[in-house]
Amino acid sequence: MSLQTSPLSSHLGVEITGVDLSSELDRATRDEITRVWIEHGVVLFRGAAVDDEVHMRLSRVFGELEPSATASMNNAQNPYMLDLRYDPENEDPRFNQHYNVDGHDRAGYIGWHWDQAFMPTIVRGAVLRMVNPASEAGETGFVDAIRAHERLPDDLKKRIEGLEVVYQFCGTMDANTFGVGQLKRLPRKVIPGKSSDRGFDFPAVVHPMVITQMETGRKVLKFCPMHTPHVLGMDKDESHELLAEVSSYLLDPTYMYFHKWQKDDMIVWDNWRIIHSAAGVPLNVSRYAKRTTIMGDYAVGRYLDPELDRNRQVSRIVD
Ligand SMILES: [Fe+2]
Repeated sequence: MSLQTSPLSSHLGVEITGVDLSSELDRATRDEITRVWIEHGVVLFRGAAVDDEVHMRLSRVFGELEPSATASMNNAQNPYMLDLRYDPENEDPRFNQHYNVDGHDRAGYIGWHWDQAFMPTIVRGAVLRMVNPASEAGETGFVDAIRAHERLPDDLKKRIEGLEVVYQFCGTMDANTFGVGQLKRLPRKVIPGKSSDRGFDFPAVVHPMVITQMETGRKVLKFCPMHTPHVLGMDKDESHELLAEVSSYLLDPTYMYFHKWQKDDMIVWDNWRIIHSAAGVPLNVSRYAKRTTIMGDYAVGRYLDPELDRNRQVSRIVD
């Protein structure tokens, strides 16, 4: 094994080279990849001649997989493989809402979030693979919430310790308060039987604002800017003020990393520690990525309604 790492940026992520993903990995290599992933949170594999088999093999290094998406987004041949495709010719707006973002028309834009913040469980991570990169834009942004916690002033660390945040699913980017740019939703052609509204109804959930990374003991600023967050037990104004202050540290552009995709890149992120965003593409530019989802439950999330929590039934979608 000659696994090597090099930084993706000065503050976040590494690229791993020297691993042959074309055949089964031995235990020592799998353990080393996992150790690097826990240490850095975002890991890039670049230049492998990848296919679904390689993608699945790499994904299973980090845990069991689950079919995470709504049926319409799952790959027809493989339910563990999620298709994230934007095709300008496809007029079905369901997963391809158009926005003007900070003055640019974009498809596939998603603000800063961790996956499934609106669920009591949080999946362990994901492996995103670029099948056809966008000819323009299409970056994925990452922020390390361990480093974000380190950046907080001591008094703010004290104020948020022990607080919990309520999240309610919100599928429309322009309805989000934090973690999105200046947004305007653009009209799309209405197709009978199709809707730009996902139409999901998820009960409110609660997550701690600070968690501890179990392998290292490091604190994580576990705040998801999306899905209408509200601090449990605080009035609206006080909650907004505190979350705006927290967001100013979490979403400091100095510490963001935006990955410019090349064909066959694969990135795995730790969903318990990293938040991410999708820059989207110009409306006439296609992009095709595939994603696997690594199963997990960090066991400190819950439904707001205790009755629901006792009878917890988890269904999954991707966000
Ligand atoms: Fe996501």
